[in-house]
Amino acid sequence: MCGIVGYVGPKNALDVIIGGLERLEYRGYDSAGVAVIADGQIRVTRAVGKLENLKKSLEDAAVPAVPHLGIGHTRWATHGKPSETNAHPHSAGKVSLIHNGIIENYMTLRADLEREGCIFRSDTDTEIAAHLCNRYISKGLDLFNAMKAMCAEIKGSYAFLVIDERYPDRIVAAKNSSPIVLGIGAGEMWVASDIPAILGSTRQVVILEDGDITEVRANTFRIEHDGKEVERTPMTITWDPVTAQKGGFKHFMLKEIHDQPQVVTDCVRGRLRQDVGSVELPELPPTLLKEVQRVLFLGCGTAWHAALLGKFYLESLARIPCEVDYASEFRYREPVLDARTLVVAISQSGETADTLGAVDVAVKHARTLAICNVLGSSLSRKVESTVFTHAGPEISVASTKAFTTQVLASYLLALVSAEQRSMINKAKLAEHTHAIALLPMAMQAAVATESSVREVARRFQTARDFLFLGRGLCYPVALEGALKLKEISYIHAEGYPAGEMKHGPIALIDDKMPVVMVVQRSPHLRDKAMSNLREVHSRDAQVIAVTDTEGDKELRRYAAEVIEVPFVSDLLSPLILTVPLQLLAYYVAVLNGTDVDLPRNLAKSVTVE
Ligand code: G6P
Repeated sequence: MCGIVGYVGPKNALDVIIGGLERLEYRGYDSAGVAVIADGQIRVTRAVGKLENLKKSLEDAAVPAVPHLGIGHTRWATHGKPSETNAHPHSAGKVSLIHNGIIENYMTLRADLEREGCIFRSDTDTEIAAHLCNRYISKGLDLFNAMKAMCAEIKGSYAFLVIDERYPDRIVAAKNSSPIVLGIGAGEMWVASDIPAILGSTRQVVILEDGDITEVRANTFRIEHDGKEVERTPMTITWDPVTAQKGGFKHFMLKEIHDQPQVVTDCVRGRLRQDVGSVELPELPPTLLKEVQRVLFLGCGTAWHAALLGKFYLESLARIPCEVDYASEFRYREPVLDARTLVVAISQSGETADTLGAVDVAVKHARTLAICNVLGSSLSRKVESTVFTHAGPEISVASTKAFTTQVLASYLLALVSAEQRSMINKAKLAEHTHAIALLPMAMQAAVATESSVREVARRFQTARDFLFLGRGLCYPVALEGALKLKEISYIHAEGYPAGEMKHGPIALIDDKMPVVMVVQRSPHLRDKAMSNLREVHSRDAQVIAVTDTEGDKELRRYAAEVIEVPFVSDLLSPLILTVPLQLLAYYVAVLNGTDVDLPRNLAKSVTVE
């Protein structure tokens, strides 16, 4: 998500930090800031927007001496809108601190600190950490031990870098779930969120582990883990700078497919109370889901497919009548809306012109909610409230991790609605939260189908048409699989409800047409899908089956290829089953030599009608 760079050494720390942040620009950010120690004092400079704005502010601020230590940050907003006051570093007393991640217990900590007299200037969760560090230093701890004490109080994910005027020779860093690497030089050291930030300067790195706290000076560093000093062996990075930006993957799309086990964790962080088996979306007005009698989902492209699953979840769990509309169709259709209708707009970017236009119509008559990835986006400013998906910046035009988190956010929405409308008992709800907790591991296993999917792609790479079929929850999965394939490989692909095949597409089937059949284990739907599969098989089509059932012998008899993913629950299966389809599209495109991350004619965010 956010980018972090720290430096201590003989060079001008500002030049090094800005250079490092520039190498992380590709990740997307909405504001940036630096803190350096010059002439014994911390100087903080922050700006909204691009690094160019920060550079201008730095020229105006004119730091009095060349700084040799500092920290810098590019922010992708998660708590508090993009603004200069919310940009990092955050300061308290003589401490300045930057952070990647999400502090889950920030409300309680902030209330405690306010009672102690701390004044908060931003809406961020991060500022709490600056105050906590400052509090411990004021109580007599040094910077390292203050960081330790602070981390013991914080729940959530973090990569922290902190500096203090009283310790002008060191940066202290701590890691849990968010990455930190140390770059080792001769008499100089870097601390960064990602290898590309420092690759131009050194290839010797130490990758910190969760729970590590480190103190970094120009010539030395030490790491503690669980209160004990530990050795971490430096490694030599051989990546070229371009590969490094993609975390070692060949394309952003592949990286983003691999991000999915992590982003499903980020999406539910702070929302899932596994101890009591409940789901919370505190961002929603408390009575909204109780009051509405009908839900209308809107979206474009992949977001529209997520909306189809959202409808399924809300109807089956909360028993609310739902409809799904293309945002581009909705606004010109004189839709029937009233104050008891909730319009839920789904959008990764929050900037799609069709979706924004549709929401302009909706806000006049109905209640509105967004499921969106980008904090501070136009969409999130138009609606009453937004459930953010926390998927991190998505760079590849073909959407992958945004889809998974949109579906997951819709599922959370349905569970909260079901609870508020007394449609679900505690035991059932606990079953759902348990299944969600298993999701990251299942996603990991789905990503691990990569090598078998690559072989399937090799076998079918020359096909000119594909049919994707699924029933029930697998129908939107089939649509999404077909969309991915056509978007990036330019091969014609059609997604269809499997039961409808006999009313048309069956005429297309011959031995040249691969049919991707998404088969869910739920007994009723699996048997229906099997009969469709037999119909396809008897017309000589080559079937690629994607299933959440282990060792389905009957399926293997009819399908030329079977890709298995783990089963977590009927309702969560679509998320897991989608992953092999993303990989299939990816490898068919790679084998056909198309520009995977920037497919022809497509834009990541379509801001025109
Ligand atoms: C474009 C992108 C798609 C995306 C759609 C909606 O067409 O290429 O990948 O699904 O816009 O984008 P949104 O940002 O609103 O989710």
